[in-house]
Amino acid sequence: MTSPKISGTTQLLAVIGNPVSHTGSPAMQNFMCQTLGLDYVYVAFNIEQGHLKNAILGIRSLNIVGINVTIPYKEQVIPFLDQLDPLAERIGAVNTIVNQNGTLIGYNTDGQGFLVALMKEQQTDVKNKHIVVLGAGGAAKAIVHTLSQKKPKSMTIANRTPETAIDLAKICQATGIGITKELDPFLKNADIVINTTAVGMGQLKDQSPVSHYNWVHPHQLICDIIYNPAETLFLKQCRLKGAVTLNGKGMLAGQGQIAFELFTGFCADYNLLKKQLN
Ligand code: ATR
Repeated sequence: MTSPKISGTTQLLAVIGNPVSHTGSPAMQNFMCQTLGLDYVYVAFNIEQGHLKNAILGIRSLNIVGINVTIPYKEQVIPFLDQLDPLAERIGAVNTIVNQNGTLIGYNTDGQGFLVALMKEQQTDVKNKHIVVLGAGGAAKAIVHTLSQKKPKSMTIANRTPETAIDLAKICQATGIGITKELDPFLKNADIVINTTAVGMGQLKDQSPVSHYNWVHPHQLICDIIYNPAETLFLKQCRLKGAVTLNGKGMLAGQGQIAFELFTGFCADYNLLKKQLN
């Protein structure tokens, strides 16, 4: 694909975070704009701590159409917005901001992005399924809040810090526990297990969120929201035990698809977006 044609009418989209150098969003969003012949360009801004407020005020001043928000600003941006979508308000985090004629509206599309990936990659949804979510941080909150609206049969949240899992579970009619032996029966009974913790990436890339894999069986779908590495130790061990596995690229493409539609009003093709991440 050639570089986007930038002119005096080109409108701006962006992602903000710190760091943002490894983001896959510009590749996905620019490709889709060019494919559809839309006059937008999507860039990444690395925002230093302390400059966030000015960056958000700048969206309005520069008439930026919309931005994605990534680590560590998903919660910190909220005080600077005019409105929150009800789901983003419940989650308490925003990953997409739309500038609607000067009104900044915050959305959270992470959980919906995960659902899109489940459907596109595995033709499955969460209705009547037993779900286990490992982790209770920002990403887990988005996934748990979204999934809890889709009638799963049960949802169990397990976290290194049990109190955080219990707090999240209380508002989502789920079970909250620590990552200990008592998790085994829930894992054995699970149809879908989702790792939302940071364990498996960066400095933790040689570690797994679970201590053993005796619970894994071939009818399970095991997901990791990590996409770099493409196969975490957790996914690899579960795959070797015969389970179906899904990494985080689909969720990234899914949230990108929803964001693109919020920004431009046009539909984005999930498969084309995902291809840009390979
Ligand atoms: P994100 O926004 O990506 O979800 P986060 O909000 O910082 O990031 O959440 C990180 C999650 O990974 C948390 O559930 C965290 O557990 P704690 O609540 O106990 O901190 C989990 N996590 C991070 N490092 C971990 C580790 N070494 N072992 C187990 N869990 C870990």
